[in-house]
Amino acid sequence: MKSTAVTTPAAQVETPLLAVVVAQGTALPPSLADLDRLAGGTPARAYASGDYKGKKDEIALFYGTGVTQRVILVGVGKAADVTRSTLRRAAAVAGKRARAIGVPRFALTVAPEARNGVPAKDLGQVLIEGAAHGSWAFTEMKRPPEEPRVEVEDVTLLTTAADQKDFEAGRTVGAAIAEGARLTRWLQMLPGNRCTPTFLGNQARDLAQRYGMTATVLDLAAIKKEGMGALLAVSQGSVEEPRFIVIEYRGGGATAPVVLVGKGVTFDSGGISIKPAANMEDMKFDMSGAAAVLGTLEAIGRLKPALNVVGVIPSTENLPSGTAVKPGDVITSHFGKTIEVINTDAEGRLILCDALSYVRRLKPAAVIDAATLTGAVVVALGQVATGAMGNDEALLAEVQAAGERAGERCWPLPLWDDYRDILKSEIADVKNSGGRGAGTIAGGWFLKEFVEGYPWVHLDIAGTAYTESDGPHQTRGPTGVGVRLFSEFVLRRAGA
Ligand code: BES
Ligand code: MN
Ligand code: ZN
Repeated sequence: MKSTAVTTPAAQVETPLLAVVVAQGTALPPSLADLDRLAGGTPARAYASGDYKGKKDEIALFYGTGVTQRVILVGVGKAADVTRSTLRRAAAVAGKRARAIGVPRFALTVAPEARNGVPAKDLGQVLIEGAAHGSWAFTEMKRPPEEPRVEVEDVTLLTTAADQKDFEAGRTVGAAIAEGARLTRWLQMLPGNRCTPTFLGNQARDLAQRYGMTATVLDLAAIKKEGMGALLAVSQGSVEEPRFIVIEYRGGGATAPVVLVGKGVTFDSGGISIKPAANMEDMKFDMSGAAAVLGTLEAIGRLKPALNVVGVIPSTENLPSGTAVKPGDVITSHFGKTIEVINTDAEGRLILCDALSYVRRLKPAAVIDAATLTGAVVVALGQVATGAMGNDEALLAEVQAAGERAGERCWPLPLWDDYRDILKSEIADVKNSGGRGAGTIAGGWFLKEFVEGYPWVHLDIAGTAYTESDGPHQTRGPTGVGVRLFSEFVLRRAGA
């Protein structure tokens, strides 16, 4: 989505739709007096009648008499509770409505009364992030309708002369992150027959070429040579070849890189431990971690932060067949530990353990993985927060802080030694699945068995990567989770 920042007063913007974020209240915010005149006094009357209060996600639509065709007020909730994240969400609500109305462009501003001291740079960033998020939709696989749908292609963000420089700096960051998230959601949405491991490998090569990064894509033969027994075990049931993808961005000279690892299961049927048919189609989203890594590198390519970043993606399908790995099979991982495969549906940890073993050679400053790893994390945290686990409290806190700034919240679960017994195997060094309890922690503990020599955080995004129903700020489907968090993390580390 294109965006520009201008200092035109709200009531003078020539636009098919002007969206104004307002805080909760019982009267028209004084700053909107000009705008009220433009809409014939109806906004003030909407407040006076008590019909409109500016509550969170609450919208009122008015028709203008001047250069502004339509005005929507978008509620952000109580002024004192306004943050980067609530403003981003309000911008997304506006973007979603712009799409529903069918305008190709709109203007967006925050009433000063609703700003709650959020700095201009943050404002510029979150407004474009939100506007792009809310107006996103995936239409490319349907035949064009007779009346073609209008895409929201452009947003004009209103700022003031005093704020303009900082606001514009933030807008540049937000626009890059929004493009990253757009790539991520597109990849997530593509079905398993289009988005295969080979396809992801090609996407990585394209991305690297666009931004002068290096992409290394290991094919089946190279993965065998590398000794990635766990990734191979998952892929052996499928006709599609696996890929092991490494993209390196060098912005930090000789310093140790931040490594981002993403689970790239392009379709997870469960394998021999097959999943029930209901909603199995959603398992095309099992490459959401991989998509988040690619989207983050898209943002990084645009912003060029002063830091080294490596994206690592183990990618495969998980299918049942005569050649598939079976419950009870014992496999040898890249790390060297043997694994008893109890449940072939616990495949994410298998492909990730080889990736976490591989990255040791990069001597990482930090490793963060994102994976749709367990249904149990949805039980624990719902769709509100990503589950976070790791071996380093400082890194965990840093990741959590990045998630707060990003509006992609994480919440920690403990990897205490007491939980290790869940994975004790009779026959191998470790088994890939335990009992019914602590399923997300078991996944985290399994990965921890293969982490050596670097600080690491695991993000279980199974509850946050996609939604099954429409929200006020986003359409159902992929959320692009991880891109904003990873980007915030990287930019802060780069001192940006
Ligand atoms: N990809 C799934 C996890 C998942 C579940 C993602 C629901 C999104 C929504 C993962 O590979 C899986 O199947 N995990 C198993 C682990 C179990 C067998 C130990 C699960 O959560 O049931
Ligand atoms: Mn699975
Ligand atoms: Zn899976």
